[in-house]
Amino acid sequence: MTSQAAVILAAGMGTRMKSQVPKVVHRVGGREMVSLVVDAAKDAGFDTPIVVVGQDSHAVRGALGDGVRYVEQEEPRGTGHALLQSRELLEGVDNIAVINGDTPLIRPETLGSMMQRHMEGKAYVTLLTASPADTDGLGRVVRDDSGSVTAVVEDSEADEDVRAISEVNGGVYCFRSSWLWPSLEALAPSPGGEIYLTDLVSVASREGLVIESLRPDSPQEILGVNTRVHLSEAETAMRQDIRERWMLSGVTLLDPATVYIDSDVQLGRDTVVLPNTHLTGGSVVGRDCRIGPNAIVDGSRIGDGCRVIASVIENSTLEDQVEVGPFSHVRRKCYLESGVHIGTSVEIKQSRLGRGTKSHHFSYLGDASVGANVNIGAGTVTCNFDGVNKHLTRIDDNAFIGSDSMLVAPVTIGARASTGAGAVVTRDVEPDSLVVGVPAKAKSKDGDSKTE
Ligand code: UD1
Ligand code: CA
Repeated sequence: MTSQAAVILAAGMGTRMKSQVPKVVHRVGGREMVSLVVDAAKDAGFDTPIVVVGQDSHAVRGALGDGVRYVEQEEPRGTGHALLQSRELLEGVDNIAVINGDTPLIRPETLGSMMQRHMEGKAYVTLLTASPADTDGLGRVVRDDSGSVTAVVEDSEADEDVRAISEVNGGVYCFRSSWLWPSLEALAPSPGGEIYLTDLVSVASREGLVIESLRPDSPQEILGVNTRVHLSEAETAMRQDIRERWMLSGVTLLDPATVYIDSDVQLGRDTVVLPNTHLTGGSVVGRDCRIGPNAIVDGSRIGDGCRVIASVIENSTLEDQVEVGPFSHVRRKCYLESGVHIGTSVEIKQSRLGRGTKSHHFSYLGDASVGANVNIGAGTVTCNFDGVNKHLTRIDDNAFIGSDSMLVAPVTIGARASTGAGAVVTRDVEPDSLVVGVPAKAKSKDGDSKTE
């Protein structure tokens, strides 16, 4: 068996992005381009791909972590020079797949088919080519009368005739190593001083070696991102793919173009996503939910049968049959048990709400642990911050918090206890009791204030 490896070129400056961060960490479908390319390589069976990074590579390394091997290209002297940096790590590997790190839509199946074609054809070079609508800036694939590839000519060096060629180089290749390394060493720099990987194609052609080529299923797979216009094109294409995948899996999208679903999100059957909704950060949404319109669900888990209207759910968990919104914000590790109902203009931060608990109108619950079947009256606020520290509020099962109650934490409201409208609760409230007033004091059932 011959050995194979993949190299991802990610050291270029990406000058045309006009960005402070390396081009390949710009995101498509919520993920860094280079992570998408690395995943495609891994899914195609290339374990621990090699990533060629530039000097200022902490953003790329941060995005990729440990699942790859890194080599540094000290100066961005072209794609050929970038690949050459990986030579030592690839000692003894027979065939090498090379992928531009700015090709976020490449599919693992395509990489697999390319390597297969390369091996079966006993090729020295295999190219991925396509004929996209816009060929500007791309290397053109030149063929002879018999249809064999003879060269890839960069746009900057192409004359009128070559520029008219519709077939372009996709920036994804397979090479036979025994020929690759000495040939790469021997390449002369282009007029601009860069060593072009693509110059290897004419070298192989002149030497009479086998050059294979393959077209992907869709030309958009080779979309290389050089500018933010390309970035938005890649984004649009990927978003559309994701939406179609979910629709074919049983999710209704009422107006698909206005729904943004990250590639790492999951959705259950018969869930309906309404317009202007963003589902991001690895969120998992169950079955039979209605999400939107105007909802943002980020980094959260939502159970079955939930409803989120015009609200923001961040890094939180909703069990089944939970309703939120409109205009509410659930954030930072909230946990809402089954049947919780959050209504209009409620903010909940780092709190747990037990089964069937309701907060229907404009309230703030922060750092609270709320039991089951609690009613939180309109305008209730957990006063959790004393200016220095955050404190906890505990509300036990079946408590009834009257409208406009201020719960000054740390404080506990016992099970089945009630607070009167406008109560400012500064001390713990006994189970089954009623407190009223400012500061809140216990009141007996017949209406007398209790002495303490
Ligand atoms: C390249 C191809 C072109 C092809 C196009 C497909 C060359 C010379 N040209 O052009 O034929 O049609 O891709 O999208 O290869 N990189 C480095 N180090 C460098 C330079 C680049 O690592 O010194 C990396 C970049 O980070 C990028 C990739 O190589 O991920 C491609 O470089 P880029 O400058 O975008 O090449 P193109 O001009 O798009
Ligand atoms: Ca490019």
